Amino acid sequence: MNIFLSKMFIFVIGYVNIVNSASLISSDPRHGTVRNSNIPLVDDCALRAFTVEMAAYIQPNASRSNWTALSESALQMNECHDQSYRVQKSSNTRKSFETLQTTKNSDCFRTIFVQDSMGNDLFDGTLDRPLKTIPVALSLTRNLRLAHGNEIQLCIVIRGGTYYLGTNATTNSSQIGAISLTSNDSNLIIENYKDERVILSGGILLQLQWSVYKKTSTGGTIMKALLPPNVKLSDFNELYIDGRRAIVAKYPNGDPATQGLYAKEPGFSFDAEFWWQPEHNRSQEIHIAEPFRNGTHFSHYQIGLNGGASVFNPPSSFWSTARPYGNNNYVVPRGVIGKLHSLPHMSNWTKPTTGLVHVFHSLYWGSWVFEIASVHPMEKRIMFGRGGFQEARGHRFGGPFYVANIFEELDSPNEWFLDKDSRTLYFMPNGTMPNVFVASQISCLISLRGNSIQEPVNNISIRGLIFTETSNTYLRDYIVPSGGDWSVHRGGTIFLTNTTNVTVSENLFTELGSNAVAVIEYNKDTLVTLNEFVWLADSAVILVGTTNGIDGFSVATQPTNIMIL
Ligand SMILES: *[C@@H]1O[C@H](CO)[C@@H](O)[C@H](O)[C@H]1NC(C)=O
Ligand SMILES: *[C@@H]1O[C@H](CO)[C@@H](O)[C@H](O)[C@H]1NC(C)=O
Ligand SMILES: *[C@@H]1O[C@H](CO)[C@@H](O)[C@H](O)[C@H]1NC(C)=O
Ligand SMILES: *[C@@H]1O[C@H](CO)[C@@H](O)[C@H](O)[C@H]1NC(C)=O
Ligand SMILES: *[C@@H]1O[C@H](CO)[C@@H](O)[C@H](O)[C@H]1NC(C)=O
Ligand SMILES: *[C@@H]1O[C@H](CO)[C@@H](O)[C@H](O)[C@H]1NC(C)=O
Ligand SMILES: *[C@@H]1O[C@H](CO)[C@@H](O)[C@H](O)[C@H]1NC(C)=O
Ligand SMILES: *[C@@H]1O[C@H](CO)[C@@H](O)[C@H](O)[C@H]1NC(C)=O
Ligand SMILES: *[C@@H]1O[C@H](CO)[C@@H](O)[C@H](O)[C@H]1NC(C)=O
Ligand SMILES: *[C@@H]1O[C@H](CO)[C@@H](O)[C@H](O)[C@H]1NC(C)=O
Ligand SMILES: *[C@@H]1O[C@H](CO)[C@@H](O)[C@H](O)[C@H]1NC(C)=O
Ligand SMILES: *[C@@H]1O[C@H](CO)[C@@H](O)[C@H](O)[C@H]1NC(C)=O
Repeated sequence: MNIFLSKMFIFVIGYVNIVNSASLISSDPRHGTVRNSNIPLVDDCALRAFTVEMAAYIQPNASRSNWTALSESALQMNECHDQSYRVQKSSNTRKSFETLQTTKNSDCFRTIFVQDSMGNDLFDGTLDRPLKTIPVALSLTRNLRLAHGNEIQLCIVIRGGTYYLGTNATTNSSQIGAISLTSNDSNLIIENYKDERVILSGGILLQLQWSVYKKTSTGGTIMKALLPPNVKLSDFNELYIDGRRAIVAKYPNGDPATQGLYAKEPGFSFDAEFWWQPEHNRSQEIHIAEPFRNGTHFSHYQIGLNGGASVFNPPSSFWSTARPYGNNNYVVPRGVIGKLHSLPHMSNWTKPTTGLVHVFHSLYWGSWVFEIASVHPMEKRIMFGRGGFQEARGHRFGGPFYVANIFEELDSPNEWFLDKDSRTLYFMPNGTMPNVFVASQISCLISLRGNSIQEPVNNISIRGLIFTETSNTYLRDYIVPSGGDWSVHRGGTIFLTNTTNVTVSENLFTELGSNAVAVIEYNKDTLVTLNEFVWLADSAVILVGTTNGIDGFSVATQPTNIMIL
């Protein structure tokens, strides 16, 4: 019955699309205007010109004119010729931004050295007798503060090497780091030694005995190895090989990190025949009559609690009301039915519930991840379990998708699968076997958590470090912080809450499973500067606070005076 209804529905939508694409191709929203119809064109153009100007400032001299041409085109400045605002033509002068003074380590009351290769945690932490691990260095700073008070500035200087902070980790919270600082750790610098490469990994280095599991019909070889008991399987959701994220066994094949929707082999399937239609679950609604902002898209404050919003934590969302702006209550499909030729190995899936389905929102502005609840190979049907909360607007249909983490889909080079029941890791090399295998174990490497707004962590500087190889967090709690279309997981590699005067500078964030820097709730005077962010599975920097409902003024639980350059 349900199938029939969703078929009918798709048919009607399909018909409308055909009419549209035949007669009105320019009505595609991707070809639309960037104009904000709520404000006069003259103001809109001034804003666009300002954006073009700012974009030019941050470009290197060499590519500035190209960049300006591109941003003028993207912002449709041709609409603005008749307007009487003043456009600052992009010039050759490069404006320099004021940056906060950062603390110098000449101010260190005491410097504690850490070195993985030569260190020993029983040493005293001098340059010649370094400690081996960072948590022990932190304990030493706490002892020094007991003797000398909390106002002294201390420095932890880390020598080159790789520090596997995921090894023997005691928490898998994305908000509590392997290195966890509180208010009593104020006035601290953590940095690399001179120009040495200090790699902080969220994984555990795997020392494995590989043997051949089987040869595939396509000529590949699947290898297998038993995992030692100290690898925590629940948090091993990313495998990093020679410093790069490997591919979880998936259909269709292809690396999501390097192939995209417009690539020749995108690694996504476009073969969804039907999306199993959602059931609307009513929320309790709160509507505030005043203030009323007449003529705007979001004229009233309104929010839905529980019901369809139950998938978020807390269970509340602007989009879980009967009639949010645009009229579409948040819902997501309950499953997908592939075309006949798609998902060819489905009848061989022995344990489909290990699988995850990654799905674009049908309008592509976000994507969802679902656990698989059940499959029906005859119908090429996958029913979804938990998931779909990684975007806040929802829709009854998905776009291109792929299925990951199914053993029988391990059929292509660089794919892996972890059989948790037998603690066996399977991997198909691309020719020769690579060297360094690291299993992710944690998502948060350093947390700064002040006891309260009145007693924050203050004056901390983290610089010159390389952060990498963390667990992904896309099935953890997501919050809908606003009336924007997005939801967010409030955790990250560096997690800040109740802080003041924190500087995160000159670090490299690469090959991460989660957000790189999470600035959550009360944080004041935070400087995130001169860092490089590459190969992330989530955002580079997130700033998320909370309000007391419509009252955002009498509570201080938001980031303020944050500078990101
Ligand atoms: C910038 O534009 C010029 C001419 O339009 C072109 O020759 C040059 O290759 C472009 N540079 C870059 C970095 O794209
Ligand atoms: C960019 O150009 C300006 C003005 O021509 C010059 O002063 C500045 O040194 C240049 N910057 C770089 C990084 O080349
Ligand atoms: C924070 O550090 C600055 C120097 O960098 C120092 O002047 C100030 O006293 C410190 N703040 C506190 C509360 O210790
Ligand atoms: C992890 O724990 C094991 C067993 O307690 C210990 O032998 C090993 O040294 C620890 N490794 C690290 C990096 O702390
Ligand atoms: C923090 O320091 C204060 C005073 O120095 C001390 O009383 C308190 O117990 C410390 N708190 C923690 C969590 O160590
Ligand atoms: C965190 O660790 C606990 C205890 O091992 C485990 O049950 C849980 O699944 C882990 N949480 C996540 C999100 O991996
Ligand atoms: C809202 O604006 C419209 C058009 O500008 C106007 O007709 C209407 O009376 C306004 N409503 C209120 C409650 O002010
Ligand atoms: C509907 O919402 C309630 C909470 O209001 C929740 O307990 C229930 O699981 C939801 N039902 C479905 C089918 O999602
Ligand atoms: C299922 O697995 C068997 C045994 O490995 C294999 O012979 C067969 O081709 C597979 N069928 C599909 C549809 O993948
Ligand atoms: C396998 O190796 C070949 C040759 O080096 C390379 O072209 C290809 O991209 C590699 N495939 C994967 C999945 O890494
Ligand atoms: C941060 O401060 C707030 C309010 O002072 C407090 O409720 C919260 O528990 C603090 N956060 C942490 C992680 O201690
Ligand atoms: C924050 O840092 C600045 C510059 O180092 C310093 O002057 C100021 O005292 C610091 N504020 C606090 C509360 O420590």
